[in-house]
Amino acid sequence: MSITVSAPGKLMLMGDHAVVYGRPCLVAAVDKYLTVKAGLSDGQNDVFVTPKESNQTFLLQAIKLFREHYLIKEPVVIETESELGNYGLGSSSAVTVATIKALSELFKQKITDRELFDLSFKAVLAVQGLGSGFDVASAIYGGIIYFVSKGEMVERLPGVEMNLVIGYSGIKADTVKMVKSVEEKMKQYPSAVEKIFDNIADLVEKGKKAINEKDWFSLGKYLNYHQDYLEDLGISTPKLEAMITAARDAGALGAKLSGAGGGDCMIALICAEKKVEVKNAIEKAGGEIIDLKISSEGVKVL
Ligand code: PMV
Repeated sequence: MSITVSAPGKLMLMGDHAVVYGRPCLVAAVDKYLTVKAGLSDGQNDVFVTPKESNQTFLLQAIKLFREHYLIKEPVVIETESELGNYGLGSSSAVTVATIKALSELFKQKITDRELFDLSFKAVLAVQGLGSGFDVASAIYGGIIYFVSKGEMVERLPGVEMNLVIGYSGIKADTVKMVKSVEEKMKQYPSAVEKIFDNIADLVEKGKKAINEKDWFSLGKYLNYHQDYLEDLGISTPKLEAMITAARDAGALGAKLSGAGGGDCMIALICAEKKVEVKNAIEKAGGEIIDLKISSEGVKVL
């Protein structure tokens, strides 16, 4: 007997970094998934088949915490498959969530979404040492969520039909390094950085309202302002900025980097007619287009 569970990747829409300091963020699940198949092992040891994943730390930590929590010792066979690539789409949180969910099904342990969040977030923190948990929540709940640090509040929003173009900068972001660089800035200039976070939080509230009202023009404007604050934090890069400017010049309603910064992806909000122009402009600026849509699906047993 085996259980297969899939969890979606994510994109941070608004609230990057500020969410680590107690402010809210908006995050969207995407229609690219990581799948975990879990079964009982015939032998004495666990068996892992993870062709797309060189780093098994999150998987191992998820299994360890599951065993400790549910007092289960049986060896397991875990196979993972991923469509998320190495673009910063949240493969660590997706593998953690999908593994714990698959094991809870395999061993018939009832787990609520909240318990799944708590255990998965604990696993991610044990590996990474820091983070808000926004990516874990996105993998569990799917769709667009308004999230407050550590899962204090998770609210599903409408708007999955929002039109985004995603460009990868070609540089893998180091989330831990970027979060630490902001921590350093916070130590040196606390009042300036707190002010930036307050401004970002204000934009997140406005963005939430715009999404609820499907007011994409306003949302685009907020994404542009948001990018300015992320630049002030020192986490943007010339390459990301070139792609963002190119997208705006080609008619995007707004554009910003997404996530930790220092690399990974930028997002551009567009109206459907501008899709080709914006994609071409981002490519011309050296970006790689990642074809994906926002997905309403969260973690699920297949
Ligand atoms: O690197 P990403 O895409 O996982 O984004 C990190 C987002 C931060 O706000 C910088 C960190 C966090 O855990 O919220």
